[in-house]
Amino acid sequence: MVHRDVRNPLLFEIAWEVANKVGGIYTVIRSKAPVTVHEFGERYTLIGPLFYKTAAAEVEPEEVTNPFMKEILEEMSRQGIRWMYGRWLIEGAPQVLLLDTASISSRLDDWKADIWKYDHTICQEIFKFVARETSKAVIAHFHEWLAGVGIPLLRKRHTDLTTIFTTHATLLGRYLCAGSVDFYNNIRNFVVDEEAGKRGIYHRYCIERAAAHCSDVFTTVSQITAYEAEHLLQRKPDGVLPNGLNAVKFSAMHEFQNLHARNKDKIHNFVRGHFYGHFDFDLDNTLYFFTAGRYEFRNKGVDMFIEALARLNGRLKACNSPMTVVAFIIMPAATQSFAVEALKGQAVTKQLKETVKDITEKIGQRIFEKAARYTGGGDIVSAVMEQNELLTNEDRVLLKRRVIALKRGGWPPIVTHNMVDDSADPILNAIRNVRLLNGPDDRVKVIFHPEFMSSNNPLIGLDYEDFVRGCHLGVFPSYYEPWGYTPAECTVMGVPSITTNLSGFGGFMEEILETSSDYGIYVVDRRMKSADESINQLADHMLQFCQKSRRQRINQRNRTERLSDLLDWKIMGMEYVRARKLALHRAYPDSFVGSEIDNYRKVKIPKPLSAPGSPRIKGSGISDEEITEGMHNLGFRIPGQTDDEDDEYPFPIAIRRSSDPKRD
Ligand code: UDP
Ligand code: G6P
Ligand code: GLC
Repeated sequence: MVHRDVRNPLLFEIAWEVANKVGGIYTVIRSKAPVTVHEFGERYTLIGPLFYKTAAAEVEPEEVTNPFMKEILEEMSRQGIRWMYGRWLIEGAPQVLLLDTASISSRLDDWKADIWKYDHTICQEIFKFVARETSKAVIAHFHEWLAGVGIPLLRKRHTDLTTIFTTHATLLGRYLCAGSVDFYNNIRNFVVDEEAGKRGIYHRYCIERAAAHCSDVFTTVSQITAYEAEHLLQRKPDGVLPNGLNAVKFSAMHEFQNLHARNKDKIHNFVRGHFYGHFDFDLDNTLYFFTAGRYEFRNKGVDMFIEALARLNGRLKACNSPMTVVAFIIMPAATQSFAVEALKGQAVTKQLKETVKDITEKIGQRIFEKAARYTGGGDIVSAVMEQNELLTNEDRVLLKRRVIALKRGGWPPIVTHNMVDDSADPILNAIRNVRLLNGPDDRVKVIFHPEFMSSNNPLIGLDYEDFVRGCHLGVFPSYYEPWGYTPAECTVMGVPSITTNLSGFGGFMEEILETSSDYGIYVVDRRMKSADESINQLADHMLQFCQKSRRQRINQRNRTERLSDLLDWKIMGMEYVRARKLALHRAYPDSFVGSEIDNYRKVKIPKPLSAPGSPRIKGSGISDEEITEGMHNLGFRIPGQTDDEDDEYPFPIAIRRSSDPKRD
């Protein structure tokens, strides 16, 4: 009988999005790396797929030092399996192993070949590893069904290790929600196999269900997805692992406010160009709203956003508001190229700017020359600045030409690119249906940018993070959103946002904050309200935001930013610690005796004072500094522990009750 050291286990974390950016799972793995490396050091290895195009920029190859790993990888090479081992070039620089699925020979059909080969290879690698490394316990943590195939395989081979499966959504849930199903009211009644079969995802669904059932510890990212998983995957999750972020703390307190102003100026530049010929609104009274994410029209709530913008437009007009809202929709879709009109707008305003700069320089020179030659007599000012001489005829002609170039026939475009299927695009059609066409009377203007942001982009030229910082409000009215990083990212950057109580993040914030809107997190009720009522609520939130003064916006941004500590991995990562502990307990119960008992209670952060300080936990007198020290909610039940709360799920929303009597 092998006795493995459970105090210093080895950790493998396996995900399709390791060093491979697709969506939020990449953000989870990448942003969590520093805390996991801090805990495990060289005992931590990430495993992902090898894509040569991106791998070179993501990973720095390195010699394999672990002798067991070295042996296994050499054996793989002999079998013709290509891999890359090294350091992922991110904060924490974790060890990473990428496997090239294309190099793995298989007789499997194409549809499943990639995933299967990848997982089968991972499974082989881990299997061989634990057969060689027998001194330490091994934890294999799999994310999402794509990686999860390995779990039933490892279970079948009775591999001596412990497994965790974290699902970031359920396949069937995502498919059902994207259709027109009333998902949450029917969740208990779906005949899951039949529904999966009807949607052509039965095999994938089975992989996901098998991974959930065969893992030692099954987790997901939010309460709402735990509820969904219980019904659709038919295993109640052992706990919730909410997603964290790395909150960047600036040494100067208000640096993030300065960043807002600087990036907003860049968005102003784009807007001047985009609206050329119809640029009749005041940028000082203009607010930038945006939504962003993978193109899932209904799941990401873009349908609701567009409808609410139309209502906001009507309300702003009705109250004669001086404000203009420019709403951006950032969602990648199939495009052919940038639209000529969009590029032209940037070009003509740039030319105008350069011409004006040249002319003013020349005027300056002329004034200087005259002033330097002034020898006395007459009115000094008129002597050095003869009005008629300020602009030469040549300057006048050039300026006229530049201004004439700003004339345009139609209204500013609602989309920045030429779409592959313009007439069938759901976002464009929704915008057209509500007639938000950037007309001069519209107080709400819309710009659909069907490509992720990048500083190399010739239109806006900002990376996503800088773009978010420059905006005033993020709007994410999702219908299906297991967590939803986009509003969380807004929060740590001090940008207010709107989310829903159907998103994991929205539910989480509602649980911990007494009045989340005061902290710049508005939660639209999509659970208990009809669609029409939710749209009105969303429009109301946006209208209220438009009615704030600059001073109020600045204050609100300060409050929003103060929540970042709560979302930091230093706190959120505690749930991962507990999940791993539970996994070790389950696989090696004899190695643990007499664990400490944890008690929890639910507490909320109260409404902020007029000039709120650090968020405070309701009734506890605990400040956020103390939370950061690891006081956070811990949701897992370790065998042998008791709990005085009978939550449906051991969710990590509560703040842990300290055993320290002073705090009780
Ligand atoms: N994102 C990005 N560029 C963009 C828009 C979004 O990199 O222009 C990122 C965003 O920062 C976030 C991720 O895409 O980390 C989306 O994650 P989320 O959890 O919101 O949704 P998912 O795509 O996983 O469903
Ligand atoms: C930041 C800057 C201020 C600027 C303000 C604009 O706070 O530090 O200098 O006035 O942003 O805020 P607004 O909400 O109008 O973009
Ligand atoms: C999934 C979900 C998203 C979540 C992300 C990370 O892709 O769609 O809501 O934030 O995973 O957990």
